[in-house]
Amino acid sequence: LPSGLIVAIDGPAGAGKSTAARLLAARLGYALLDTGAIYRTMALRARQRGIAWDDGPGVARLADELDLVFRLEGKVNHVSANGEDVTAAIRTPEISDGASRVSALPEVRAALLGLQRRIGAAGGVVVEGRDIGTVVFPDAQAKFFLTASADERARRRVAELRAAGRTVDLAQTKAEILARDDRDSSRATAPLRRAADAVEIDSSTMGPDEVVSRMADIVTERATASGNG
Ligand code: DC
Repeated sequence: LPSGLIVAIDGPAGAGKSTAARLLAARLGYALLDTGAIYRTMALRARQRGIAWDDGPGVARLADELDLVFRLEGKVNHVSANGEDVTAAIRTPEISDGASRVSALPEVRAALLGLQRRIGAAGGVVVEGRDIGTVVFPDAQAKFFLTASADERARRRVAELRAAGRTVDLAQTKAEILARDDRDSSRATAPLRRAADAVEIDSSTMGPDEVVSRMADIVTERATASGNG
């Protein structure tokens, strides 16, 4: 197995990044870093403290006192922030929207950059987000840009939310996903885009196992090329 690499997975909401990242990390024996969960936690903590989602300095200050712990258990990546289990609270549609809003603030992105780099620096990690291959780890040895059609992404997100016991509407979910992608892609700082050297995978008609097999093959190839095989 290739050891010590940084694997970046970027892409729009609902493309299957979380599932692919989790399965790939398990297959490689790597750690997993879900950077979206960090922005989600920031949005939640801002809400709890009455700090507006467009208050850049105010939200960024929350990063200084943020004590995040991830714990992967089966399919669920549990997240605790300063001792509070926020796993479910950060997955609501409202917090999805808030995460997209706070992540557009340059102060917030700057405040979280060092944290993400410290967690991933040692390598042997699959990092999932929007700007991992472009900004956070531009030297990652393997980069993927995972996409899927908007309809398929909306269907997957609805299935995920329904499995978690929520009542959601497909058309509304699709509209929310498109609004979020539009904001994430058009912001000035570290927008969502494919790194020039990222391998694009359209998962619209692929199952998770197929996506992960393709990724694992490419990681192994890259590892051999960089002498980590
Ligand atoms: O991947 P996710 O849906 O959990 O991410 C939630 C929001 O966080 C997403 O709409 C944009 C933002 N985000 C970001 O700007 N940069 C990242 N590396 C990860 C997420």
